[in-house]
Amino acid sequence: MILRFLFLWCLRTISAQEYSSNQILRIKHEPTHFISASRTVRPGQVYAVSVTVFKSTLSVRASVQREGVELASAQQDCRPRVPETLLLRIPPTSLPGSYRLRVEGGIQGVLGGSAFHNESELLYSQRSMTIFIQTNQPIYRQGQRIRFRAIPVTTDLRAFSEAVDVFILDPRGTVMRRWLSRQTNLGAVSLQYQLSKQPMFGNWTIKVVAQGQVEEKTIYVEEYYQTPFEVNVTLPAFVLENERHIRCSITANYTSGAPVTGNLTLKARLEPLYPQFRQYGQVPETKHFINYFEGRMDLDLPMSELRRLRSQVDHSRLSVWVEVGERFLNQVEIGFAQSLLYKSDLRLVFLGANPQVFKPSMPFKCYVSISFHDGSPLPSWRLNDQKLEFLTRVKFAGGGEQELEPRFEQMSPIQFGVWEITVDLLSVFGSLAALNDVQSMLLEAKYTDETGERARTSLLVYSSTPLLTATCRLSPAREMPR
Ligand SMILES: *[C@@H]1O[C@H](CO)[C@@H](O)[C@H](O)[C@H]1NC(C)=O
Ligand SMILES: *[C@@H]1O[C@H](CO)[C@@H](O)[C@H](O)[C@H]1NC(C)=O
Ligand SMILES: *[C@@H]1O[C@H](CO)[C@@H](O)[C@H](O)[C@H]1NC(C)=O
Ligand SMILES: *[C@@H]1O[C@H](CO)[C@@H](O)[C@H](O)[C@H]1NC(C)=O
Ligand SMILES: *[C@@H]1O[C@H](CO)[C@@H](O)[C@H](O)[C@H]1NC(C)=O
Repeated sequence: MILRFLFLWCLRTISAQEYSSNQILRIKHEPTHFISASRTVRPGQVYAVSVTVFKSTLSVRASVQREGVELASAQQDCRPRVPETLLLRIPPTSLPGSYRLRVEGGIQGVLGGSAFHNESELLYSQRSMTIFIQTNQPIYRQGQRIRFRAIPVTTDLRAFSEAVDVFILDPRGTVMRRWLSRQTNLGAVSLQYQLSKQPMFGNWTIKVVAQGQVEEKTIYVEEYYQTPFEVNVTLPAFVLENERHIRCSITANYTSGAPVTGNLTLKARLEPLYPQFRQYGQVPETKHFINYFEGRMDLDLPMSELRRLRSQVDHSRLSVWVEVGERFLNQVEIGFAQSLLYKSDLRLVFLGANPQVFKPSMPFKCYVSISFHDGSPLPSWRLNDQKLEFLTRVKFAGGGEQELEPRFEQMSPIQFGVWEITVDLLSVFGSLAALNDVQSMLLEAKYTDETGERARTSLLVYSSTPLLTATCRLSPAREMPR
């Protein structure tokens, strides 16, 4: 809470003689007293005025007035440089109006001898506390019991010990029940209200009035009847358009948990994720009917069927409605789920940094991995008949280039979708001397699989050895290093 303070101080009066004797025209700003107090005043509050005098012992009197009538006052003898606090009890029944604080300092023992006095305007605030209203739930249905409590807390965070009035109002504003002058029990009033079987549905209000301050809380009363059973449809959150089918898991249970037997109708619809223009007429949908359903089922929606709904399957939203008809109650319940379909962009990468560094005289090892664009792994059936073509182009310091024989790499038997590739230039060129000239290599991988999809990537590797083979000779030092 931010309190605005007001500061008052007075200057020592300088006599004419003193002024003339002071050749340098400088006025010494020497304060005689310092007063600080809150700018706002609230009903029932203990209003504190802090006073410090600097010169001599003074008898200080502070008072709060409303429309010129004194409401509270306090007096205290203040010794120099000893801060004192004057406490004024503002009556709880005080009303809005123009409030003033008056502070006077009198010389001790001298009747009417005023050392200073000052008056200042105060702001009046009715809000002398915070009322918290808590309910046991935010939404209720017919026949439920609303349990709630009101906790009034004063501005200094202490419990409010006096009585409060509590009202409960229906959406039309009619008072449905009231509790007058409820004593707070250790700072809280706990109450309950039983909703009838046919209450008015909508926003109800709990109103708490304490010391003229009103606090309200809205609760929502909704019509709700529990269904005898529920249908739960689960779809994967994302589907890649090259999958063969989409698995749709359906469960239907009574509220007791027992499975529901009946018939089942599944409807699926495919809509663009970002429609360019509004669709008119019937959105095409596909339908499946199962006459005998026993509470649990996994239904595979073939992608070919969805392609018939919409030629472009990727970037679309699949919506599935499942209706389960229960034989004995002759009741139909609907379950719903959605999924997003994306294009299966392949991503072929060399693992690690790019570019990399290698030593031409040593075999260089690198890894290539394939995944979908979002990083998810490819289904194993796609990797059964894959091909990874590997090309190496060696660049020499003199500006020459040489392309090595293309190779087809084997996928790592341990790690699916990863190839471990070794480039051994020494075995290709046959001599170390030829390798001295190698500046860099450009490695390129090309992937093709049985669906005909392709992906390619490349990696640049620089030779780490300097072009000239430098020799280094070590000789023992003769002198001690300085
Ligand atoms: C009271 O103090 C205020 C703030 O220092 C000052 O502006 C005002 O003139 C003083 N009033 C009197 C009557 O001394
Ligand atoms: C209830 O109040 C909420 C906001 O507090 C409002 O959005 C909603 O429309 C209200 N409902 C009725 C039935 O008045
Ligand atoms: C529906 O089923 C899924 C998985 O079987 C489960 O995670 C989810 O909580 C169920 N939802 C409901 C509303 O029962
Ligand atoms: C719903 O019924 C199925 C059997 O059909 C059962 O496996 C499942 O646990 C039940 N679910 C719940 C939430 O009771
Ligand atoms: C499925 O069962 C419900 C409830 O018994 C029934 O009303 C509905 O006609 C049935 N649907 C079909 C297509 O038979």
